Amino acid sequence: MEAYGGRNPQPGAIGGLRRYDSKVNPSACPRPFVYADHRLTCSGMDLAELAEEFGTPLYVYSADAIRERVELLQREFAGTPHTLCYAVKANSALAVLKVLAGLGCGFDIVSGGELERVRRSAPAALHEVVFAGVGKQAWEIDAALQSDILMFNVESEAELDVISQRASRAGKSARIALRVNPDVFAETHPYISTGLREHKFGIAIERARHAYLRAAKLPGIEPVGVSVHIGSQIRSVEPFAQALQRVRSLVEELRADGLSIRYVDGGGGFGIEYGNQAFDPAASAAAYAAAIRSVLNGLGVHLLLEPGRFLVAQAGALLTRILYTKQNGAKHFVVADAAMNDLIRPALYQAHHEILPVLGGFPESERPLVTVDVVGPVCESGDFFARDRTLPELRSGELAALLDAGAYGFSLASHYNTRVNPAEVLIDHGQARLIRRRETLEDLFAPEVV
Ligand code: LLP
Repeated sequence: MEAYGGRNPQPGAIGGLRRYDSKVNPSACPRPFVYADHRLTCSGMDLAELAEEFGTPLYVYSADAIRERVELLQREFAGTPHTLCYAVKANSALAVLKVLAGLGCGFDIVSGGELERVRRSAPAALHEVVFAGVGKQAWEIDAALQSDILMFNVESEAELDVISQRASRAGKSARIALRVNPDVFAETHPYISTGLREHKFGIAIERARHAYLRAAKLPGIEPVGVSVHIGSQIRSVEPFAQALQRVRSLVEELRADGLSIRYVDGGGGFGIEYGNQAFDPAASAAAYAAAIRSVLNGLGVHLLLEPGRFLVAQAGALLTRILYTKQNGAKHFVVADAAMNDLIRPALYQAHHEILPVLGGFPESERPLVTVDVVGPVCESGDFFARDRTLPELRSGELAALLDAGAYGFSLASHYNTRVNPAEVLIDHGQARLIRRRETLEDLFAPEVV
């Protein structure tokens, strides 16, 4: 089955058995999760020990892996004035935001809540915030104006009027870009493709010039940029180049009209490999940057980018303990203690996440391969992490890691089935730190009244 977020690869079975060697990366895709002496580790920390200490389900992130990705992109854009505005929605943990701010990142936010996250983790970065979203409310606009954010990415002409009113009322001027919808097809899952005319996002590019000329006359509005975001988990660079080519033409037109456009925001969306196919993040970053640089060459703008997934997805995994195994007819089920409320991507997008046993050696580094459904305890048939997947046998009481869960994992978690949200651990400088404790039932009931 072709699944969004990667293919469903068959592990390389050797005579029905797969051997996990010491110090190996179990796939051609570089991740911080590797076996050392048949035990899965993250940035040198033993995952079984972390599960023992902090319980499961547990999100584990590597700060080093995040740093590596940021530095990759920063290196590629070194000759171009630019800011990486990390997309907070991908992983909103305050401690993660702090790591990113420490690397010089700004932030892409979509709500007053995300603005508050930046304020609490990295207040100095508030001036490097871009604010997108089709439904900004007055209080959110006010908070962003008070914070003197870098720019509003405005998604409709009606929103422009509201920002103008709020800014005038506060005696401020709002720097804005219009988020243009370039009508470019990005091959990805339909739920996360955004750059076609039929999508709710942005302002049709043909109408943009008219909207800018109107914006320029509005009180409290200073048009300074053009922004675009065509979707997420996009693996080829052409759609980015196509979209930015259209943006470039618009910038040139607007400048001819006398507007001083100094920012181009290319959005996020640069994808990763979720399966175990070869993936070279450095080469991918180089190709992505080369495509963008060549389109914008000589335009003389400050480039903003809003990467989320590329920076954090592969830095994280969700650790889960196997509760039961069961056979229903021909089906073999492995029931984990994590569920779709902890990681919804497989249920929502049929996304593929690699699943590894935390202890590779069983009993002496070999396990039979079995074809199973890995499922959670939630009462929906859609609550699965893998279907008909051939995996090293997982037995009850054992631990497994769901890889590439650093982006859109915890941030999409819910309380469905009245389940508490998992704890989160960040490994940084050889130390594992609890950055969010496991919720308690008391936390869950606190806002309710009987
Ligand atoms: N900028 C804007 C305006 C966005 O809407 C998004 C993502 C990003 C940047 C970051 O995109 P990234 O670089 O992470 O692809 N829940 C889905 C992904 C939803 C993406 C929404 N927008 C998933 O789990 O795959």
